[in-house]
Amino acid sequence: MANEHRCAQRPGDDGLPPAPEAPADGLRPAPRAGADTTWRGWQAATEQALYGPDGFYTRPGGPGPAGHFRTSVHASPLYAGAVAALLRRVDAALGHPGELALVDVGAGRGELLGGVLAALPEDVAARTRPYAVERAARPEGLDPRIAWLADLPAPGSLTGLLFANEWLDNVPVDVVETDAEGVPRRVEVRADGTERLGAPVDGPDAQWLARWWPRAAPDAAGPAPGLRAEIGRPRDAAWARAVGALRTGLAVAVDYAHDRADRPPFGTLTGFRAGREVRPVPDGSCDVTAHVALDACAGPAAERLTQRAALHALGVTGRRPPLSLATTDPAGYLRALGAAGAAAELTDPAGLGGFGWLLEPVGGAACAGLLAADDAG
Ligand SMILES: C[S@@+](CC[C@H](N)C(=O)[O-])C[C@H]1O[C@@H](n2cnc3c(N)ncnc32)[C@H](O)[C@@H]1O
Repeated sequence: MANEHRCAQRPGDDGLPPAPEAPADGLRPAPRAGADTTWRGWQAATEQALYGPDGFYTRPGGPGPAGHFRTSVHASPLYAGAVAALLRRVDAALGHPGELALVDVGAGRGELLGGVLAALPEDVAARTRPYAVERAARPEGLDPRIAWLADLPAPGSLTGLLFANEWLDNVPVDVVETDAEGVPRRVEVRADGTERLGAPVDGPDAQWLARWWPRAAPDAAGPAPGLRAEIGRPRDAAWARAVGALRTGLAVAVDYAHDRADRPPFGTLTGFRAGREVRPVPDGSCDVTAHVALDACAGPAAERLTQRAALHALGVTGRRPPLSLATTDPAGYLRALGAAGAAAELTDPAGLGGFGWLLEPVGGAACAGLLAADDAG
């Protein structure tokens, strides 16, 4: 299966989401769309489709995120190695606490935590308390050191690093579309993916749009029909709650993101199934995801980098090994060449390297500037 990065998801040149794809054997459940004709906003529909009793992520026995798309975690162990390096910087900045928390929010099958534990020196691993926060059930055979939690730890309870890779894009959001008069209306959707325009958006959602996605806000200058936007308020709240789990340390969110100055005019809501981008249908058969307004999530002390800059600062570069190594150590040369290829994928500005890293130091400035880099490229 050719798994794509989800950052590959973009509407076509015509601005429309991609057409439905043929199902891949064994990964697509029987369609259930016909059973449910309720109209819902996209937030409620996505919540049900991804995390309901038979949800895309929570359904027992499903292949997990790795079966449907490729995140940095799946791309290469270099990524876990980089997170381990970051954890060590946090550890040093905090004065090597007796218990060093490592919280992975939206942990998938726990792959990142396993990789980080394996990459840590023994003395640091012995003090590390790994927590997976995940709505899906604990996978069988997971490293017993990893605590598996359905919800975030209590506010202010932990010291260490909280890391969330491609979590926020799966926090469901409502979608608005401007009607013929340019008035933004909430988009309603049925389980088969059919849409209609609902009531005009108002209240805190309208305020959020005015501040963060002004082209699709009720009082937009030069209103135009057919613009779409995703209202990131639930993600702002989810991120603030995640950051709040730390007493001291660093919280990091990594995702495909856009900024206020360059929001896509037709939004980014899309689907993913079995390695392919598909039309988003909230029936549990596919992932439903949208790029993240990370600037809206950011707290006042936040730092922002591209993944490329963050990984460079952590020592992951796509630099090829010197050719001379091929004669002195052919096996080592091939290993280094493979690592350079993986690093190039993780740092590719047009792919995973273009992801946003949002860093929030918590409980003082000890963990500020940990990725201040000489190479911002
Ligand atoms: C795209 S996957 C990313 C998995 C993993 N972090 C990676 O990078 O490979 C998103 C994960 O977030 C989980 N998730 C979404 N909302 C969550 C929440 N509120 N609490 C815990 N996990 C959540 C989903 O169940 C899913 O496993």
